[in-house]
Amino acid sequence: MSEATIIDGKAIAADLRKKVGEAAAKLKSQHGITPGLAVILVGEDPASQVYVRNKGRQTVKAGMQSFEHRLPEETGEADLIALITVLNGNDEVHGILVQLPLPGHIREDRIIEAIDPMKDVDGFHPINVGRLAAGQAVLKPCTPLGCIILAKTVNPDLAGLNAVVVGRSNIVGKPVAQLLLDENATVTIAHSKTRDLALLTKTADILVAAVGRPEMIKGDWVKPGATVIDVGINRIDDGSERGRLVGDVDFDAARKIAGAITPVPGGVGPMTIACLLRNSLIAACIQANIDIPEI
Ligand code: GUN
Repeated sequence: MSEATIIDGKAIAADLRKKVGEAAAKLKSQHGITPGLAVILVGEDPASQVYVRNKGRQTVKAGMQSFEHRLPEETGEADLIALITVLNGNDEVHGILVQLPLPGHIREDRIIEAIDPMKDVDGFHPINVGRLAAGQAVLKPCTPLGCIILAKTVNPDLAGLNAVVVGRSNIVGKPVAQLLLDENATVTIAHSKTRDLALLTKTADILVAAVGRPEMIKGDWVKPGATVIDVGINRIDDGSERGRLVGDVDFDAARKIAGAITPVPGGVGPMTIACLLRNSLIAACIQANIDIPEI
């Protein structure tokens, strides 16, 4: 049997970053604006430190300004909100991202609500969540948007396809379901209480796995020919020092049945930062009242 097409998220993300970089250069030459992205990291979480470093590098590579704020673990909610308020008022900062998760003593919802919705490049502010629900999102959440872009490289028209999203988180599951609905897919959201999950996933033309459980979706849960988008990034112990990264889908089994599938790593992961840069560019355009370029 023929094996699935491997969707090359690394290459697709690089292409998107290049397009964003070109649009940023145009914004600079035509309007004198350099998009600026501020990233705030509280504490020392090693995975978050890697993400934040990569975000800063890619931002600069795309010709944008990067502002990095690293705050100690014990930073109080009021101090963090005070910093966000300063960034909200800084004209050089068009996008603000607070790296999650935050230390336990800080209420995430209070922090997200402090960000100016026009600068909320994550799309997490309740105003932007509401716009997304109404099909009017401008700043779309980055990882979900990355999933849609990848799925559309295989199925340019998602209209009428059965999409099953496994996972209902606010960061991925719910927003990706809404974006799929915007694409006129028929969308079902499955979660830990769903009955007969394998039966349901087998109906999916587009299967999005966003549960955070290593290789939970088995090969025979996949409909033959389906497009599988694996959002999971799980580090499992394989006896090596750093362990091995696997997705939420049993890749080796699923690739024999699916029509197309994203690998882990190198699938959805690289799309998140590329979409973040895209959102930063869009945010800069909105704030300057300039038409948003097609990217
Ligand atoms: N932590 C893991 N993913 C994300 C994301 O997309 N945005 C933010 N702010 N934090 C994260």
